[in-house]
This record gives sequence, structure tokens and C-alpha cells, in this order.
Amino acid sequence: MIPQPFIQELLNRVDIVDIVDRYVRLKRAGSNYVACCPFHSEKSPSFTVSPTKQFYHCFGCGAHGTAVSFMMEYGGMGFVDAVKDLAQNVGMTVPDERSEHSQKRVEQSEDLHSVLLTAAQYYRACLKDAPHAIAYLKKRGLSGDVAKRFGIGYAPEGWQGLSGAFPDYGSKALVAAGLVKQSEDGKRYDLFRNRIMFPIVDVRGNVIGFGGRVLESGEPKYLNSPETPVFEKGRELYGLYQARRAIRDVGRVLVVEGYMDVVALAQHGVAYAVATLGTATTSLHVQKLLRQADEVIFSFDGDAAGRRAAWRALEGSLPELTDGKQVRFLFLPQGEDPDTYVRQHGKEGFEACLEGALPLSRCLLDELTGQVDLAAAEGRASLLHAAKPLVSRLQNNAFRAQVLGELADKARLGVAEVEALCGLTPIAKRKSVAVTPPKWRSSRALWRTLLRLMIDAPQLAESVSPEQRRLLETDPDFAPVLALVDHVKASGVTRAGALLEAARGSPYAELYAEIARDSLSGTSELEEARADFEGVLAKLELSSVEAQYRQLCGKTSMSSEDREHLHLVSRRLAELKGGPPVGRVPPLDPPRGAPPRGAI
Ligand code: UTP
Ligand code: MN
Repeated sequence: MIPQPFIQELLNRVDIVDIVDRYVRLKRAGSNYVACCPFHSEKSPSFTVSPTKQFYHCFGCGAHGTAVSFMMEYGGMGFVDAVKDLAQNVGMTVPDERSEHSQKRVEQSEDLHSVLLTAAQYYRACLKDAPHAIAYLKKRGLSGDVAKRFGIGYAPEGWQGLSGAFPDYGSKALVAAGLVKQSEDGKRYDLFRNRIMFPIVDVRGNVIGFGGRVLESGEPKYLNSPETPVFEKGRELYGLYQARRAIRDVGRVLVVEGYMDVVALAQHGVAYAVATLGTATTSLHVQKLLRQADEVIFSFDGDAAGRRAAWRALEGSLPELTDGKQVRFLFLPQGEDPDTYVRQHGKEGFEACLEGALPLSRCLLDELTGQVDLAAAEGRASLLHAAKPLVSRLQNNAFRAQVLGELADKARLGVAEVEALCGLTPIAKRKSVAVTPPKWRSSRALWRTLLRLMIDAPQLAESVSPEQRRLLETDPDFAPVLALVDHVKASGVTRAGALLEAARGSPYAELYAEIARDSLSGTSELEEARADFEGVLAKLELSSVEAQYRQLCGKTSMSSEDREHLHLVSRRLAELKGGPPVGRVPPLDPPRGAPPRGAI
């Protein structure tokens, strides 16, 4: 964990305009800078960088963030690396708060990365001296360029080929990296021998493992590195590092089954494909992909194994489906895979085929209804039985509502019944769980205004009093406002960009970014903003106090506590309205025991 104060200090020192300008030529436009967006292809510039707010936003594709996010997105770095990189630019050193244990782990990963990189370089060099391996790749239609782009190499025959790259062949790191095995009698030998080598690279560009294919026939056809501290198969995707840019450009990612599929597609200009690594698709995979594109298309072979794999991918996708994201499935004709198909039909033929990919909802419903006889009551009941575990993994959103609607039709029931039978909370009922004693309606405009003013001028949050805080707490709609107040108070930021950074990981981060975008064009005076801010809070208090007043006055019998309360409420109401007390206030009993509650 990098401490928040360090990040804030860093953001005070770097200028996002400098950072972005290093990679993308920025042009001044009013109080902001603009450029053609580096995250999608466009002809006229909609990528906007604000020097006063210290963040960027693309009005074309919605990419947005701070200097840190820019390094993460554009540079493909993790958070820590992005912070380190920026810190280096301004001569700051990231404080090291890691425990000795995790420090050791990091050192060990760095060791493994460097061992694996050396091995990848060695395999590549060996390919140059292996005419039969080159001939094999040529036969499969690969150009030298693509082989280079994917770092494809060759592991020579012989038991200890790697000793050519590692003078210390006995080193533990070789075993830890999964490159060398040790037999029971202590003899060491290379895992990969006489194989075409596909290095597996993480999103930062580190080599983390290999897939090795036999040249002709032999078992196993593909040998994969074992899992190691740097290689977790359920998390990594082959080719993602090379495909990132293309994925952003087209807004979609294609998931295929094999290494050769990824490479052949890239060779034919379909550069947005990645492959799972001989394992089932996990939710983590889907999550990772949906972060980079709005649409994920899985391509599977048309055989029974392909269908099983597709179903597992479908299950893994269910929890990740937010509205606006799409998952589809492509089944190629029997006997084809993306490699053979694209070689025969080219990019256009393949992409035409992609257009026919089935939406996830279609596959889900087809699969569920295909197993039962919908003409019989038993069949319709077992449809719901089979659907229950699946739909309960969906998020409560418009997509789920659609699926439930279709299920209800098939089951000849109402949506509410289907929801009940599947053990789901209906979307409409979700909000009523929260207790909101005073019955005043907060409007969307009010909380959004508060957010906008605070994002523009974070220091406004400092003036929120404990009473105002309690007021905001009474309505769950104001949760994002309260969270933002807390972010400001905890970080002491004064600029929008720094505030967005302080709120990284918050469930409202997207909302804040959206509001920040809307405020990109204007800057208001702090005093004006403060007046607006106080004005909105006063308005909120007024409606809350009025509601309490009405509620108390409507009571048929009043306890002394009620009367105390009413007295306070009417006084506050008068203050807020700037006039004499409202209505006739019953006389206040002498106070006894507990102090008045609920007074605002
Ligand atoms: P396939 O058997 O479909 O091979 O395996 P392929 O991708 O079409 O390969 P080529 O075209 O014959 O070269 C698909 C994927 O399953 C994993 C690999 O990741 C492979 O790319 N696999 C397959 C293994 O891990 N081990 C195997 O023995 C076979
Ligand atoms: Mn194949």
C-alpha cells in the first residue's frame, strides 16, 4: 500500500498536461488542452485535459482519470508502477511500507521475471538456428513480423538446452520459474524440448510463462508452464499485452481457445484476440476484459467440448454483466478454429462471421429451455429450477430484468413470481430497505449539485458541519455526497484530479468522474460556489425540518418529548425562513430526563 498522503503530494507536484503531452501532442483550447484520443481512433479531438482540475476526459469514448490513471491506461502499468513512474519524474521516492515478507515476495517475482525473460530471449535466438522450426511456422502461414511481435521462439532438442542461457543450471530459480524439472535421482532437465515456444506476457510486458507446441505430432500437443508465484492461469490471458491497443480501438475483445488462433488472427489483421491458457474462462478473466472493452466475444469450436467450454465461460460472465456491457458467443463450423477460418476467409470473412455471434442471454435461454419440455408443467417448473442458480449470479440491473422477463414468458408466470421462486429481490423494492424517517424528497438535482460543487472546489467539503452530515445521512441518495466529503476530509485535497485519485476504488468513482466531466468547460469562483453549496444544504435542511414539523403537527396525541421536539423544530423553521415561528406552538413542558432528540 502506498500511503494516500504520498499520492496527494505527488499529484501536487506533477502536472497532468506535461505527463500526457509526453505521449500525445496537446493543443490549447480555451482553459483546457485537447488532442485526438489515444484510447480510441478519432479524427477530431475529443480528448480534453484540464490543467486547473488536473484530470482528463474523452468525450468520445469516455476514458477519464488523473495522471496516475493515464500512466496505468496508456502505459499499461499497474497502480504501483504508475505511481513509481510519476514519482521518478519529479524526483520523489515511493515510501516502502511493505513488510519483510512481501518485500521478499516482490524480490522473488523480480527474480522469476528476469529468469523467464532470459529464457524467452534464448528460445528466440534458438529459432534463428533451427530451420525445421522456421519451416514449421512458415507452413502454418506465419510471417517473421508476427513471430517477432509475439516473441515466438524454439526450445532445442536435448535435455539441458537452457544451460546455454544459464551458466548456473543448478539454480533454484530455474525450477521455481517452471523451466527446469528435477527427477527423483536428482537429475535436472528442461521442461520444454524440441517445441515451438510461445511466451506468455502479463499486461506490464513481463514474461510469466510459456506454452510450447510439438512440431509435428506428439503428446501433449501443447505443454504449458506450471503455475508459479508470477503465473496464475485463471487470471492471465495470452496475447492481451499485444492486443490492448486494438481492443481499445474497436471496443471489443475476442477470446479464442489457442495460441495459434491469437497469432494467426493478428497476422490477418484481427489484432484484438486473446486466449485463455488451456483452462476454463474465469470471472476474473471476464472482469479483466470488460474493463478494457464493452463487448467480449468468445469463440469456441462447434464440437461438444467447445459447447462445454462456452457454458463455463457463460457462467463466469454472469456476475460481471453490467448494463452497457455485452458478452456474445461465436460457434465456428465443425472442424474449424479461428486459425483455419481466418486463413481461408481472411479478416473480412472472419469478421462477417463474428457479426453472427449469439448474445449471452440467447445462449442462456436456449440452453435452459432446450433441456426441458415447456409444454408440461413439470418442464416449466424444472426450467426455473435450473435457472435459479444462474440468474442469482446476475447483478440486479436492466439486463437481469430482461432475462427474467423472458423466463417468465416461457414459464407462463409473472416476473414477480419468477423473482420469488428464484429467491431474488426485485429491482423496484431494493431502495425501501433503507429507513428514511423524515418524509422529504431529495431530488437528484440536489445531490448532483452538491457533488459538482465539491468536485470543482473540494475545500467546500471541509465546511460541512456534523449537523449537516447527519442531515445527509437520513437519505441514502446522499451516500455519494457523504463519501466525497469523507474523501476530502481524509486527504485534504484541493483539486478535482487529486480528489478523483483519493476516491479511487470507491463505489462512486464512476459517478464522480462523470460529474467531473460535466464541469470541465467552466470554472466558477470559489465564493460563488460556496454560496451555492450553503444554499443547497440550507434547502435540504428546510425540507427536512418542514417534514418533521408537518409530521409532529399531524399527531393526534403528543408526548412531552414530542412537544419539546416540535418547539425546537418550529424555532429552526423560523430561523431558516427568516421570520417569526410558524403556526401555534404548544407551550414547552419543563425539560425532564433525556435531552431532546432529532433536533437539527
Ligand atoms: P487445440 O487442441 O484446439 O489446438 O487446443 P489448437 O489451438 O488448434 O492448436 P494447433 O492449431 O493444432 O496448433 C487449444 C488450446 O488448448 C490448450 C492450448 O492452450 C491450446 O492452444 N491445450 C491443447 C493444451 O494446453 N494442451 C494440449 O495438449 C492441447
Ligand atoms: Mn488450431
